[in-house]
Amino acid sequence: MTDLSSPTAAATASAERKPEGVAPPLWLLAELTYRCPLHCVFCYNPVDYATNARELDTDQWIRILREARALGAAQLGFSGGEPLMRDDLEILVGEARKLGFYTNLITSGIGLTDKRLDDLKTAGLDHIQLSFQDSTQQLNDFLSSTRTFDLKRRVAASIKAHGFPMVMNCVLHRYNLPHVDKIIEMALAMGAEYLELANTQYYGWAFANRAQLLPTREQLEAAEAVVERYRKTHGERCRIFFVVPDYFERRPKRCMNGWGAVFLGVAPDGTALPCHAARGLPGLTFPNVREASLADIWYESAAFNRFRGFDWMKEPCRSCDEKTNDLGGCRCQAYLLTGDAANADPVCDKSPAHEQVVRFVERARDASEAAALHAHGTTAPNEQPILFRND
Ligand code: FES
Repeated sequence: MTDLSSPTAAATASAERKPEGVAPPLWLLAELTYRCPLHCVFCYNPVDYATNARELDTDQWIRILREARALGAAQLGFSGGEPLMRDDLEILVGEARKLGFYTNLITSGIGLTDKRLDDLKTAGLDHIQLSFQDSTQQLNDFLSSTRTFDLKRRVAASIKAHGFPMVMNCVLHRYNLPHVDKIIEMALAMGAEYLELANTQYYGWAFANRAQLLPTREQLEAAEAVVERYRKTHGERCRIFFVVPDYFERRPKRCMNGWGAVFLGVAPDGTALPCHAARGLPGLTFPNVREASLADIWYESAAFNRFRGFDWMKEPCRSCDEKTNDLGGCRCQAYLLTGDAANADPVCDKSPAHEQVVRFVERARDASEAAALHAHGTTAPNEQPILFRND
């Protein structure tokens, strides 16, 4: 049993026992809370988050930051939920700064007052990622179930006035893809250095709402052409990232850059996760930072070792000559679409389940037909034709 009275020593001792071929984590995502004033229909947080209420306290988080840094992590994201719901955020940022992390606050902007911006600047926060749901007040407010569009715009101006580099993030789907030009114009007007146009990936609430969110291929291609045009004219001022949804690809993404390879997430209740959606995978017991050091969790736990390397793979991945590129794709997607996380990601056209993905995409052309794809099981599609959250 690890002695948590000396966690950093425990972390160092375990790091020395580091198994061959396993590199240390580079990126720590600290999900401080699942509480959030918004209720976005594409949120990737657990749909049963209300059952995960017991949050780590300040001292526990400080211990996690120290252990993660001792392990080798260099980048730190403060996320949620809405991390500003925690009034110890500034203390944690200050500690992270002392430890030498590069820190990023991932926020909806709700609660980011000038006073908090001053304090976060003093604490040493490096970067802010601010999310919008759309370029129009109507859709922004509808998708988040709040009236927050004008407030977010004021927050964006304050972030820039405080001298923070800013990423504007907007999750894309069939409702706002036609507004991509306006979203880019908005980011330029706000002075964002980066714009992340992240097409919805289908986990959590987005999976529950996927029949309503999935765009058509034509919508995606049109949006990509707009992005390309702006990259040519404004690429110097603002770097634009456009991430295509997996469902439209023929080869899977190298999800998280590999399971237990670079990413270490800690959920609000202390559960350590190799990806933020992994909690939904059955048959895995994820370790908790209350009970083990991060080094033990990273190097020794069964959950973090479960999909490392190639031995866990089934066919067609096992004998595939592309397995070193994509590492079999995304475990969470494999589970959601096939019921077995060790199967090939069905996004891959070598997967026997790929036809399912093709059918989703084809049927997304017709919103009413797509609604029939609603396979989450809790609500019949005909009774729930619009986007929903029931938390
Ligand atoms: Fe979990 Fe891809 S989102 S492994």
